Amino acid sequence: MTEQTHTKRVFSGIKPSGGLTLGNYLGAIKRFVDTQDSGVETLYCVVDLHAITVWQDPAQLRYATRELVAAYVAAGLDPAKSILFNQSQVSAHAELGWLFNCVARMGWMNRMTQFKDKAGKNAEKVSLGLYAYPSLMAADILVYHATHVPVGEDQKQHVELTRDIAAKFNNDFGVPGFFPMPEPVIEGPATRVMNLRDATKKMSKSGESDMERINMTDDAETIAKKFKKARTDPDGIPGEVKGLDGRPEARNLVDIYAALSAQSVEAVVAEYAGAGWGAFKPALAELAVAKLAPISTEMARLMQAPDELDRILGQGAERAAAIATPNLHKAYDIVGFVRSR
Ligand code: AMP
Ligand code: TRP
Repeated sequence: MTEQTHTKRVFSGIKPSGGLTLGNYLGAIKRFVDTQDSGVETLYCVVDLHAITVWQDPAQLRYATRELVAAYVAAGLDPAKSILFNQSQVSAHAELGWLFNCVARMGWMNRMTQFKDKAGKNAEKVSLGLYAYPSLMAADILVYHATHVPVGEDQKQHVELTRDIAAKFNNDFGVPGFFPMPEPVIEGPATRVMNLRDATKKMSKSGESDMERINMTDDAETIAKKFKKARTDPDGIPGEVKGLDGRPEARNLVDIYAALSAQSVEAVVAEYAGAGWGAFKPALAELAVAKLAPISTEMARLMQAPDELDRILGQGAERAAAIATPNLHKAYDIVGFVRSR
């Protein structure tokens, strides 16, 4: 087989594991919306198969799946333009994931920092699915021959592993260029939104205290309170960006402001040079409320019509399967599976 050129196609996914943070919004959802009108085919998935690598209450999982598609739509993804669907309705993901379990090496999985973080000292007791997680993620991307993957910084290693799996498959079976080498797209000031109480950790939906994160559904008062209580240092906003070096809490708040207002960090620092936190934090809270409130209001409205959300997911899944199934069958043929036609 000769080298193939792959047309640009964007794929990304978020786990419906309950609660969406400002990190998910700025690091992922907002950037999905920004790519939607680039003229490229875009697929945005609710990765429910990934969610169950750790225990999910079934009723909660159903709720979180609908809430995530509501967030996608409320934030501006248009189901007529982007393919919005949940992973479990397109069986090709799990099927290609199995092939990749047989391509990827144990040693590769052992290097994954997300697994090490999540498993902690408990590695013997976590699910086998949590260990194989990156191989399924590779299948999510490669079953569409996707070329670009917008994600937050924490997912870079998984996209790099996806490239290793693609390269090994292409090489083992002598099919150069069959799978593309997808690129992680990690851009902008908010690829790593940090915890408001401890800026050495990322903001996450699973952190212990609610005060450490902004949820997409927080009301104005809660958002203001959380930013007010966010840890900072005694110095205010510096005169230049370099003045944020070694000040992770300050850097985080300025980054969030920049991302929410679609400005550079330089522009934000220039505007607020010399301001104290007493002035900056309320401005940040006001900006966050202005951006998030319309989205959470629309999410709440959409959640009143779960049938409509399920219909969006179903139609997206059909369109997704129309791309994924033929690609899976090609991979099956390459591997040597007999397929009755
Ligand atoms: P998850 O909620 O872990 O499924 O993450 C979904 C997407 O949100 C991925 O692209 C993550 O990289 C992104 N993301 C999650 N938390 C953050 C954060 N604190 N900062 C930036 N991006 C994030
Ligand atoms: N692992 C990603 C996360 O935790 C979610 C994910 C699953 C994903 N499959 C993907 C992201 C495919 C991008 C592409 O955030």
